[in-house]
Amino acid sequence: MTDLSTIRSEALGAVQAAADLAALDAVRVGVLGKKGHVTGLMKTLGGMSPDERKAFGARLNEQREQIESVLEARRAALETSALDARLASERVDVSLPSRPEGQGSLHPIGQVMDEVGAIFGEMGFTWAEGPDIEDDWHNFTALNIPPDHPARQMQDTFYLPPRADGTPVVLRTHTSPVQARTMLRPDVQKMLADGGSLRIIVPGRTFRIDSDATHTPMFHQVEGLVIDRTTHMGHLKGCLVDFCRAFFEIDDLPLRFRPSYFPFTEPSAEVDIGCSWKDGELRIGAGDSWLEILGSGMVHPNVIANCGLDPAVYQGFAFGMGIDRIAMLKYGIPDLRSFFDSDLRWLRHYGFSALEWPSLTGGLGR
Ligand code: PHE
Repeated sequence: MTDLSTIRSEALGAVQAAADLAALDAVRVGVLGKKGHVTGLMKTLGGMSPDERKAFGARLNEQREQIESVLEARRAALETSALDARLASERVDVSLPSRPEGQGSLHPIGQVMDEVGAIFGEMGFTWAEGPDIEDDWHNFTALNIPPDHPARQMQDTFYLPPRADGTPVVLRTHTSPVQARTMLRPDVQKMLADGGSLRIIVPGRTFRIDSDATHTPMFHQVEGLVIDRTTHMGHLKGCLVDFCRAFFEIDDLPLRFRPSYFPFTEPSAEVDIGCSWKDGELRIGAGDSWLEILGSGMVHPNVIANCGLDPAVYQGFAFGMGIDRIAMLKYGIPDLRSFFDSDLRWLRHYGFSALEWPSLTGGLGR
């Protein structure tokens, strides 16, 4: 059976010569496939005598098994070397430094909102919000601002086309309308009726027609409101003294409460903090000058009544301050307009790490 031994030796040679798995598979198909040489010989078995068939069949099987096991061994060897080659070429050097990634930063306005939130949060205030587009009633009327009050004038206020039902709408000129929105909430009225105390801060965007180095048409305020049956002016003072000292991180920061006027508070006070000027540079803290930083007062009984509460039972205080302004003062940012230029160089300089959450214990600012 020269034929069989030739096939065998040729097959074994081809298996060893196969350089990769594809070549090896071609060898397998050529020998053992449907039209392969060994398969061809199998087909001749049918024409043989039983004795011949038995003898040749046995040899044929033996040779086929041998070829199969050599094929298998070669396949395993080729797979191993293919894997080795891949591992060598795709090797990862874990000691390489990682690629630099751009890191964002927090805008000083967001940072200062979080700082204000952290301080008032410690005093039991919660964070409330309201719409930027506000109706005339919440922005003015509810707050005891009469129709002829200058704050309503076209020069100050961005008026929008009235709603379909004729309601006049404006871009809110302060965060104070959220005082009314909150006091009017049924859950708040119930909480107050049950003897609770309302304490909110309202950070948000506000709008007035104004533009220079310290005014922009869009700016930010934070409102504060406390309502219950017993809160008085002493609480207002204590709360704002504590806040200003914590915010500016100056324990003996002097404060001055100056009588003032707001339609929605009575009595009203503006609050100044101590400062001094040295070589044209502002320093916050004990000194010979004062800087106004916020407006405040006891909530006017008319406002309490407008919000569906009995002014003979409920009282409290409110305050409002410019976030942009206190951010400029605390972090020495000279021009308010730069807040809204979206200049990345400015943000990299004045921005804050997004991973450091301000807290009274962990530290507020930088
Ligand atoms: N809403 C006032 C303003 O925008 C600030 C203020 C709020 C004053 C609450 C007193 C009480 O100027």
